[in-house]
Amino acid sequence: MSKIIAVAELTEEEAREELARLSEQLLRANELYHAKDAPEISDADYDALKRRNAEIEARFPKLKRGDSPSDQIGARPVDGFAKVTHARRMMSLGNAFDDADVKDFDRSIRKYLGLADDAPLAFTAEPKIDGLSLSLRYEQGQLIQAATRGDGEVGENVTANAKTVADIPHRIEGAPDVLEVRGEVYMSHEDFDALNARQTETGGKTFANPRNAAAGSLRQLDAGITRTRPLRFFAYAWGELSEPLAETQMDAIARLRDFGFQVNELTRLCATASEMLQHYRAIEAQRATLGYDIDGVVYKVDDLSLQARLGFRSTTPRWAIAHKFPAELAWTRLEAIDIQVGRTGALSPVARLHPVTVGGVVVSNATLHNEDYIVGRDAKGGVIRDGKDIRVGDWVQVYRAGDVIPKISDVDLTKRFDNAAPYEFPSKCPECGSDAIREEGDAVRRCTGGLICPAQAVEKLKHFVSRKAFDIEGLGAKQIEMFYDDPILPINTPADIFTLRDRDAGNLARLKNRDGWGETSASNLFAAIDDKRTIPFARLLFALGIRHVGEVGARDLALFYRNWETMTAAIDTARPAVLAQRAADEAEEAERIIATEEGRRARLKEARDAAIARMEVSAQAANAWSDLIGIDGIGTTLGLSLSDAFANVDERRAFDDLCQHLTIIPPKAPSSDSPVAGKTVVFTGTLEKMTRAEAKARAEALGAKVSGSVSQKTDLLVAGPGAGSKAKKAADLGVETLDEDSWLQLIGDA
Ligand code: IVH
Repeated sequence: MSKIIAVAELTEEEAREELARLSEQLLRANELYHAKDAPEISDADYDALKRRNAEIEARFPKLKRGDSPSDQIGARPVDGFAKVTHARRMMSLGNAFDDADVKDFDRSIRKYLGLADDAPLAFTAEPKIDGLSLSLRYEQGQLIQAATRGDGEVGENVTANAKTVADIPHRIEGAPDVLEVRGEVYMSHEDFDALNARQTETGGKTFANPRNAAAGSLRQLDAGITRTRPLRFFAYAWGELSEPLAETQMDAIARLRDFGFQVNELTRLCATASEMLQHYRAIEAQRATLGYDIDGVVYKVDDLSLQARLGFRSTTPRWAIAHKFPAELAWTRLEAIDIQVGRTGALSPVARLHPVTVGGVVVSNATLHNEDYIVGRDAKGGVIRDGKDIRVGDWVQVYRAGDVIPKISDVDLTKRFDNAAPYEFPSKCPECGSDAIREEGDAVRRCTGGLICPAQAVEKLKHFVSRKAFDIEGLGAKQIEMFYDDPILPINTPADIFTLRDRDAGNLARLKNRDGWGETSASNLFAAIDDKRTIPFARLLFALGIRHVGEVGARDLALFYRNWETMTAAIDTARPAVLAQRAADEAEEAERIIATEEGRRARLKEARDAAIARMEVSAQAANAWSDLIGIDGIGTTLGLSLSDAFANVDERRAFDDLCQHLTIIPPKAPSSDSPVAGKTVVFTGTLEKMTRAEAKARAEALGAKVSGSVSQKTDLLVAGPGAGSKAKKAADLGVETLDEDSWLQLIGDA
């Protein structure tokens, strides 16, 4: 650090030099803070540098730099990049790992579309580029925005950076007025090696692989740096369009090429699944000589009208799949087995390995799944690794496939130490000492401590703030670890997050004096928390971290119940039905066990009937329960887990406390003007114009709730030929019943 001279005494030359230095320092600080989440200077120091920069600029206005840190919005931008909401969600792809998966893919599409096994159905097959996806928006032929995928819905605005990529045209001719081109930004092997060599020479950061290098280069806050990085772009898909590009995937890609984009020349049209597999092998054979990384082959239904009919699951299209290349392997020593406790109490064994490079990435941890896996059995009791168990000290084979967590695929018994003992899986939670038990049919041993177990509580909180849940800027896993059980300002429950500002007495006094926290980051955190006091119902439900309630289940529940009060009332109403069901199951189980002794059997049956009679469940409870598990996609497992979570006193208190601080937004009906929006529809019998899955997806897209069973809540039954008990029940309940044609007419699709 050079000596600090008062601004008033700086010469012009000194000022110019210092502005350059400050710009570099602030850029680096920003980079460490945002991209690496590892700030090197405190907020206070950062603020001081920025102030100094502003003072010098005020004295020498003409020296202000083009990339002046003063022009960045906010004291320390909360985000490096502005957020962009994608006009059409950016999807990821489902995976196929072998030939059978590819054939299943073909079969399931035929089934969905109701196509015969031998009906023509063409697919494209093309390399899966190992880079990062980017969406480019052109309006009237002009590139106006480039955005990364982010979480699929909201990405980062990297327009200035994308404009420095030679493969990305700034203007295109003859395109639709609105055209979003999607594809992959990547770096060639040659450019990657040269970049790393240059970085080593200049003392800069080197990258682990071309994908990281491409991502790191595109996500630079200074587009000037991106410009010096040799990035490339392949176009392979699109988002919003003001008019269709073509009728087939092949023709659409040809149009993108005509607009001036690079498209992959290994893209082929395949008439059958075996042609797809053939092309997969042809691409795999060329993999090493392509000059850039690919990690599989993507197959897409060629006919775009069929793509439209097939549509999307929650995060992946039904009409495409990625066929991954086989994993890479390496051998190393297993140094230890650690047990991690997850948010649902699951005890997960983790292998600590002597670090080894597998396919260009250094691996030092691998998952061991559960105790059966260590012993050499899979979830169904089948033998894996030829039944070889895994012991600490073993020489093990590590397997890594793409971004999948590495696993241990083999053990070399000839290298096993004589004194190596079989691994003993703990029966107590290593975090809280509670019993860890394994329920029948569950592969996983779980800690029974609930919220008393600090590991479960912390993991639940981490899940609560995670990206698909509350997604609170500046409050990630690291900060949760820091705040949990903190003596001064603890966050032990989700509600504690929302009282943080008040408990901090509103003057930041407590927060800002901690390590790594300054006034700016503290007030940024409070603002980020305030930002999330209003939350969509489905997101809230997912965030609660209830076992079996994933993103899709949360969405289904939210669409069905629409608000928190209705849902909790229904769950409470259904509770007696759950208890009665369990009592009956348990009695039956006991009866089974001692069934050999006739006399005892009769006595037990009496006792059981008496117990059930005492638990006589009201029709109301039974209905609420059958409504809940009848929601399409919910079922008994999720229903039980949800019911148990809400009946657990600690959890319920945590939920209720949390809701005091929130405004919950009901799910928006996808199209409120449709005649079936908000209606509960049941399909039964054989549908002739579409398959059941397609009918369900279309009804949901129009805002209907699709249920699997008829009840008083059912508004419409769509009955095809062969409809049986459901049609009868609907008639008994006076539910309106339509045939398939009238249904199509009703939704304007006849
Ligand atoms: S199509 C709606 N084609 O793979 C489907 N994706 O694992 C859009 N990717 O997010 C994707 N090469 O970033 C498609 N030829 C290709 C691809 C490709 C790479 C990436 C893409 C996607 C990810 C999913």
